[in-house]
Amino acid sequence: MKGTIINCVGELVCQRFGDDKWAEILERSGLEGDVKFMYTCDVGDRTVFRILDNSCAVLGISVAEVADAFGDHWINVYAGRIYKSYFAHLASFEDFIKGLDSIHARVTSDIPNARPPRFEVFDVEPGVLRLNYISDRALVDFAAGLVRGVGRYFDIDVDVSVLSNGEIEVRIHE
Ligand code: HEM
Repeated sequence: MKGTIINCVGELVCQRFGDDKWAEILERSGLEGDVKFMYTCDVGDRTVFRILDNSCAVLGISVAEVADAFGDHWINVYAGRIYKSYFAHLASFEDFIKGLDSIHARVTSDIPNARPPRFEVFDVEPGVLRLNYISDRALVDFAAGLVRGVGRYFDIDVDVSVLSNGEIEVRIHE
């Protein structure tokens, strides 16, 4: 996975929990405390999963809590600062979620070895969306956390449920 993801995890942990916690997470994951994750560098998926597992252990929070904190930080702080031009034109929650495939394709088109997830989005009924999350990385909790982050970005109330490893349902209350 691309270094930008872990760079964002590190920024979040340092800002909310302190530099020493991030150093501990890296050390437990077998990495040097001063390692830097460049945006486009490749980080092995196993290293990514170790860092996420150790984040739960060191911070004393669940995977779902890490995933929600990550989703909020990615959308509302990190990507908003670095990748805003890829989604600034999307004026509503639904447009953003329905544009996820194209956002990922455009952000990663110039990055060698990028392997972004794919999303299929369906209208179930008015105000209810179903997302098929297609990836062999099985990060569905993170995908759900990101969808909640998009709800916050538009300042709307959304109920996001993980239905299976590849399915997310969103109820939009506007
Ligand atoms: C609801 C919003 C979003 C969801 C659900 C989502 C989901 C994900 C997930 C789960 C991954 C991990 C890789 C995998 O599962 O295979 C990922 C990777 C990535 N996402 Fe997103 N994402 C969202 C928004 C964004 C936005 C707004 C950007 C940038 C404008 C972005 C850029 C990236 C990049 C650069 C990667 C790394 C790809 C790679 O390693 O090759 N994502 N995304």
